[in-house]
Amino acid sequence: MAIVFVSRAIPGDALQRLRAAHEVTVWPGSMPPAPAELRAAAGAAEGLLCLLTERVDRALLDAAPSLRAIANYAVGSDNIDLALTRERGIPVGVTPDVLTEATADLTFALLLAAARRLTEAAADARAGRWRTFEPAGWLGSDVHGATLGIVGLGRIGRAVARRAEGFGMTVRSTADTPLHELLATSDFVSLHCPLNERTRGLIGADALARMRPRAILVNTARGAVVDQTALRAALERGEIAGAAIDVTDPEPPPPGDPIFEVPNLIVVPHIGSATRTARARMTELCVENLLAGLAGRPMPHPAT
Ligand code: DGY
Repeated sequence: MAIVFVSRAIPGDALQRLRAAHEVTVWPGSMPPAPAELRAAAGAAEGLLCLLTERVDRALLDAAPSLRAIANYAVGSDNIDLALTRERGIPVGVTPDVLTEATADLTFALLLAAARRLTEAAADARAGRWRTFEPAGWLGSDVHGATLGIVGLGRIGRAVARRAEGFGMTVRSTADTPLHELLATSDFVSLHCPLNERTRGLIGADALARMRPRAILVNTARGAVVDQTALRAALERGEIAGAAIDVTDPEPPPPGDPIFEVPNLIVVPHIGSATRTARARMTELCVENLLAGLAGRPMPHPAT
């Protein structure tokens, strides 16, 4: 039996399987443990099931010297220093595939909502500002017939592409088109690349300036892929028509962050994988990864 620390309560029944095999402690708070709390709580752990809210860095690995398996409750692994875990021989697992379709659905929901100004229109209706049928009111952009540029044609990018084809869009991606050209020729740009040193700040002032004035940016990848200050400026100056983002940098933005004041920007709280099924399946994959890692077997879903 190994000591396992789980950094937050997570949905689904799969943790029972972990409890049956190991001594499991779940962080009781609804907020993530602060770094020092995590170091203390995971200090004796051999297995760690963590979320993207936790940084698995040198300080944590030094504080938890018995760690021999880490399962991240996410398909991304940018919260984990993979070079260091590799160096220390600690396998890390992630949760691919099970959230692909849910995240692609949310991407499309954001794309449609931004194109057709859904949040604004719904807020106006609710606030009594729907006085009559308005021929020139709440005008948005066509989705059918538009060009979608996908940055990062991995699992989620491809699932978004399939949806776009159903909507009669022309789909291009960084797999077939250089980024600068993709930005300049797309009506919608959707980000699906992992966050790493090459993609951090990829969509900054220059990239935004290349986009069409009517274009809409959707980000369900990672907040730091976009330079948030530059995005705010581009939206305020009307350089692009709108944006819809599921991810920010930092997450969440601090209270009173000007990002919440920007017109034509929809912000939702990192809910790409937030369906009951996807989140329960993520728990299952984490448990499979930990059970394998703690037994000294290769994890079925390793981080790469
Ligand atoms: C991930 O898995 O990386 C998502 O951002 C959260 O589900």
